[in-house]
Amino acid sequence: MADTYPVPAVWAEGARVDVGGRAALSAQAEADPTGFWLKQARRLDWIVPPTVADESSFEEADFDIRWFADGQLNVAANCIDRHLSDRGDAVALIWEPDDPAEEARRYTFRALHQEVNRFANVLKAEGVGKGDRVTIYLPMIPEAAFAVLACARIGAIHSVVFGGFSPDALAGRITDCDSRLVVTADEGRRGGKRIPLKANVDAAAERVPGLTRVIVVRATGAEVPMAERDRWYHELAADVSADCPAEPMAAEDPLFILYTSGSTGKPKGVLHTSGGYLLWASLTHEWCFDYRPGEVWWCAADIGWVTGHSYILYGPLANGATTLMFEGLPTWPDASRIWQVVDRHQVTTLFTAPTALRALMKEGDAFVTATDRSSLKLLGTVGEPINPEAWRWYHDVVGAGRCPIIDTWWQTETGGAMIAPMPGATALKPGSATLPLPGVAPALVDEKGTVLEGAAEGNLLITRSWPGQMRTVWGDQDRFFQTYFTTYRGSYFTGDGCRRDADGYYWITGRVDDVINVSGHRMGTAEVESALVLHPKVAEAAVVGMPHVVKGQGIYAYVTLNAGVAADDALRSELVQWVRREIGAIAAPDALQFAPGLPKTRSGKIMRRILRKIAEGDVSSLGDTSTLADPAVVDDLVANRVG
Ligand code: WT7
Repeated sequence: MADTYPVPAVWAEGARVDVGGRAALSAQAEADPTGFWLKQARRLDWIVPPTVADESSFEEADFDIRWFADGQLNVAANCIDRHLSDRGDAVALIWEPDDPAEEARRYTFRALHQEVNRFANVLKAEGVGKGDRVTIYLPMIPEAAFAVLACARIGAIHSVVFGGFSPDALAGRITDCDSRLVVTADEGRRGGKRIPLKANVDAAAERVPGLTRVIVVRATGAEVPMAERDRWYHELAADVSADCPAEPMAAEDPLFILYTSGSTGKPKGVLHTSGGYLLWASLTHEWCFDYRPGEVWWCAADIGWVTGHSYILYGPLANGATTLMFEGLPTWPDASRIWQVVDRHQVTTLFTAPTALRALMKEGDAFVTATDRSSLKLLGTVGEPINPEAWRWYHDVVGAGRCPIIDTWWQTETGGAMIAPMPGATALKPGSATLPLPGVAPALVDEKGTVLEGAAEGNLLITRSWPGQMRTVWGDQDRFFQTYFTTYRGSYFTGDGCRRDADGYYWITGRVDDVINVSGHRMGTAEVESALVLHPKVAEAAVVGMPHVVKGQGIYAYVTLNAGVAADDALRSELVQWVRREIGAIAAPDALQFAPGLPKTRSGKIMRRILRKIAEGDVSSLGDTSTLADPAVVDDLVANRVG
């Protein structure tokens, strides 16, 4: 078939898993799940090896997600200590700073061990212990890795909050998991700009009385006011030893919370635990990317998202990889930066988001072709559907036709890749994440929940648990069950639509719920709406996704103003700024239309289908509008569409 890329010969011969190997793994996982998973689990170092594997149930009566429950391990020891004897002097972490004129930093596993132990002792000295929540609001600096792994070492639960979130969003996340300690920096840097992280924490702290300690890493050296609760990290670190025993943890002890947007206004704290999560991060990193010792692995995500957790830190480090952490932006100082970093550090595998590729693609090929890139062997993508045009550009121009494209479908909730190619085993089709990984059981269903066989399109479910599955919504097990396990009883509902072709390949079509995927990041429409209606001039707001050439989806907001308020461009930009300040830049609407009224049914329900169509510019097929309370509002919306 013209649009199928067979496994290249070098991969067919040399990969860890070949076509037969992938099929065999999948067959073993089906035939003897317990034997299969207990065997896979042996890739980790256990203090007490597990004797049980999956004990989960998706049924309401005995609902629980539980894996390897009698095993004990320490996640940080798996990522660091166990590599010391044979690869202690190998580089674990390469840090590439924002400014290309600055020197990169390298940490061997031995150096990482010292840094993490020191950070762990600082946290301990501040009274942090097993099960306590630590909020980490740091830029992409090595200390972010140290802080995360230090929590894992002492059994504290980290909650990393992306540095682009506002003080308000940060305060909500600190409060929700009741963390008394925040780790931050004076400032962050990205693309030559400064981000006032400490000032944001100060603003958040006013809303969180329970926040008693802020540890500040000196990153840029900016002058920041230090209050009673604030301590400099370098001062605390000077007083502690670089020796800190790793806390033995039960496999099901929590490792981290990561907040993600859903279809309600309040982000949910996705909880991952220790054994199953680490196994899934490590196993999928090996299956999908075939890492070999000495290679340089680069996941160009931010540590504030799950991709950064699983594929900058936990997966690669558990596998003894050299992982690269990049502080900067793909487009700064110019659109060549990524490829220069690839050359500078001889990167073997690059893992990034389609949105970054589209942004670079439009700058032209010269930025790419001016660089060497011969170190690359594989190219990965994650976060949103990749359009075939961007896929081909990645394959043909970036990889010069040599590197398979590993398109991984997964979610914050899944912990790691679920549907993805293995380079030695899977023929590729541009735009398809290909096949479920061994042990992953997807199903497509129609609206009624009838399972669709063969080539079909429907909603994507996962019918049984896998080790990396989230365990609960922090503090709200009922919300966990209601959100994911009640739409289709007995299965996990992903929120994604999906098509399966005649070869059994999966093609994710996007979210079918009220979640927008902006530049590979999730944003709930309800969250943006709540922010808009907080503005004193706004009466009502409705937010939908719209196609966006670089971001994949953009945010389109319809706003009804209070009586007597004049709609003008100044107010429009004020409202966009308002959302940016309330939530963060990623939530800022790309288009904002003033709407005298919204299309509602007679019972008052907003008809989002119509709003989506108008936002898409598809006004010829609005469907039946006769059930609307006031059909005339649609004409106004169509006439005043923006963009
Ligand atoms: C949503 C999850 C996966 C980590 C980063 C995003 C979409 C993710 C793909 C892909 C098509 C994808 C889905 C999913 N998505 N990867 N390869 N192809 N869509 O994690 O913020 O939890 O978002 O991202 O819609 O549900 P997230």
